[in-house]
Amino acid sequence: MNFYILTLFPEMVEGGLATSITGRAMEKGLIAAKAINIRDYSKEKHRHVDDAPYGGGAGMVMQAEPICDAYEDLCEKIGKRPRVIYMTPQGQVFNQQIAADLAREEDLVFLCGHYEGVDERALEILEADCLSIGDYVLTGGELPAMVMIDCISRLVPGVLNNDASAEIESFHDNLLEYPQYTRPEEFKGLKVPEVLLSGHHKNIEEWRRQQSIQRTLERRPDLLENAVLSKKEKAFLEELVEKSGKEGETS
Ligand code: ADE
Repeated sequence: MNFYILTLFPEMVEGGLATSITGRAMEKGLIAAKAINIRDYSKEKHRHVDDAPYGGGAGMVMQAEPICDAYEDLCEKIGKRPRVIYMTPQGQVFNQQIAADLAREEDLVFLCGHYEGVDERALEILEADCLSIGDYVLTGGELPAMVMIDCISRLVPGVLNNDASAEIESFHDNLLEYPQYTRPEEFKGLKVPEVLLSGHHKNIEEWRRQQSIQRTLERRPDLLENAVLSKKEKAFLEELVEKSGKEGETS
């Protein structure tokens, strides 16, 4: 899968993605992340890519032309017109489902804005989809692009050593992940739950699912509406809800 990042700070994106699991995935040729410097497409002597906003106001706006030229040049080189994602707090909030949808694309372009944003016409011409990483404002789109590329990359087959772990963890079936333990069996008086030492795989799996359900109820009850639960698990959840309701009454 190929990621192209249109940015004013190519070294930031390339440096960040070249490390850890995404870096190894690039070495293996499973993903490629190429940062394209929008400034290289400026036609001005001083390589400016921004100007004051029409109508006045604070800050500078990134101009449409260098952005569109950078995209067109890319399209010519690769012979395709990939989907463009524009990083903005005004976009739909990125989540695991969006990551899974985007992971099906062969090529993706991430447009990183700076200053007070980009000229609206660039977004219109590129038919950009707007995505946010949460309800807070960052100084630019580079970190959001890296967050999304990291998340999408780990869904590409072969990127994680253990493909199963991409599925089992948090948000699979819309549940949070169960608690994990490793050696030693006891640490500062705290023991690993007995069932995990039993070697009884069916019981372990049942315990983990129940822990996932309990955690999701305690920490992210909003997710439960779309959780995928068996009949038995639904009954378990109802029991938990009833119990927590009773506890609330007595305290
Ligand atoms: N650019 C600035 N803040 C952002 C956010 N929260 N998400 C995506 N892009 C942004």
